[in-house]
Amino acid sequence: MFADCSLWNFRLSRIIKEVRFVRDWARKIKEKQVTVGVLGLGYVGLPLAGEFASAGLKVVGFDIDEKKVRTLNSGRSIIKHVPHSQVKEIVTSGLFRATANMARLKSVDAILVCVPTPLTQNREPDMQFIISSTKTIAKYLQRGQLIVLESTTYPGTTREVMAPILEGGGLKAGRDFHLAYSPEREDPGNKDFSTGTIPKVVGGLTKKCCEIACRVYDIAIVRTVPVSSLETAEATKILENVYRCVNIAMVNELKVVFDRMGIDVWEVIGAASSKPFGFKAFYPGPGLGGHCIPIDPFYLTWKARQYDMPTRFIELAGEINTSMPRYVVTKTAEALNEHCKSLKGSKVLVLGLAYKKDIDDLRESPSIELIELLRQKGAKVDYNDPYIPRTHKQRQHNLRMASKKLSAIMLAGYDVVLISTDHSDYDYNWIVKSARLVVDARNATAAVRGAARKVIKA
Ligand SMILES: NC(=O)c1ccc[n+]([C@@H]2O[C@H](COP(=O)([O-])OP(=O)(O)OC[C@H]3O[C@@H](n4cnc5c(N)ncnc54)[C@H](O)[C@@H]3O)[C@@H](O)[C@H]2O)c1
Repeated sequence: MFADCSLWNFRLSRIIKEVRFVRDWARKIKEKQVTVGVLGLGYVGLPLAGEFASAGLKVVGFDIDEKKVRTLNSGRSIIKHVPHSQVKEIVTSGLFRATANMARLKSVDAILVCVPTPLTQNREPDMQFIISSTKTIAKYLQRGQLIVLESTTYPGTTREVMAPILEGGGLKAGRDFHLAYSPEREDPGNKDFSTGTIPKVVGGLTKKCCEIACRVYDIAIVRTVPVSSLETAEATKILENVYRCVNIAMVNELKVVFDRMGIDVWEVIGAASSKPFGFKAFYPGPGLGGHCIPIDPFYLTWKARQYDMPTRFIELAGEINTSMPRYVVTKTAEALNEHCKSLKGSKVLVLGLAYKKDIDDLRESPSIELIELLRQKGAKVDYNDPYIPRTHKQRQHNLRMASKKLSAIMLAGYDVVLISTDHSDYDYNWIVKSARLVVDARNATAAVRGAARKVIKA
């Protein structure tokens, strides 16, 4: 009888606590009193923190990189496309503060996790950042907190990897704290869309988790798209990236085939784009780059193996896309050959190091592989990139190079200028006019008059 009574009391007190948490959340959201913690202040985390602070919420940014923390707190940005003025504004308003002191995780209502998800040397998911950051959160986890993973990953990560770690201290996900997944769709350098104007897909461990996460994002993001589960939200991001990866591979393959036939693939894509329905243009290039498209599809491949399922489209697309730098090097060698020169001993200037135009991110950039391949063939290689004054050490590369200053005399001093990234800052007329020979892997010189005499597309 007494045992029944205490069990009943225990259940009742739990229900009261749950109701209180939900009421607390509703009040905080209504009054915009939610304090948001963003864990990982990189290309994704910093703009996200900026959106919440600009919406009037208090934001604490957490990062293990103390230098980054100091820079941000001094009002300076760490990313080219996030202006210093924006960081200064949110710091001086008192709404944003960065810290490496993880104990402060206790003081926030929502924790949005934006840590890296790279691949290991064996092209398998490297979960070290998700695991270590989740362990940190678990250490300071508070009843009623909302934890949202934003990093791109395979379906199952939030439930199978994060939840057990978070529950290690005795609090139960979905009951004592809320757990959700909401993929980041940041597209650095995109002039039409930014973090705040891109709708956010949200999946929760429970309906309540999803609802609370949606209501928090609704404060700062244009629209939320709730889905039925964590796994659906995780799979949505993977679909978006596989879609791009496969379509880019298709046009890369067509580029090679059409080139052999003497057809310009870019002209074909331009013409096909005139169809008002049923066609979406994707463009070929020197290979895939960035933190997402070359990596994320392989997170699914790894997971699918556990279900004994192959991911043939992803594997084939990966094969075609990774062969592109070699194709561009072969085209460069052929172009030099036409001028009675060998690649060995030639001076090559690579224009653009970033993985795509108008940004300063060189992660997985095909330009790096191009430089390494050209060097292996005996070429003397320099680069210019207005956004990357010098290279820094990467996980698998360390070029130790500095950007060369452009001038007409300098351009004319190279046997070939290889356009790898089509930054808008470049004056392509002047480049073609000044260079002796140009290999263009981006169709950047399409509008240059008389380009055909000097430019080889690759
Ligand atoms: N960069 C993009 O354009 C983009 C777009 C969409 C999605 N994503 C995804 O978002 C995630 C983050 O990518 P990113 O480009 O912002 O990475 P990033 O490398 O620019 O930033 C990650 C930050 O996390 C910090 N960090 C690492 N471990 C930590 C820990 N344990 N605690 C606190 N901070 C930690 C790092 O110091 C770094 O500042 C990845 O999963 C990526 O796939 C990236």
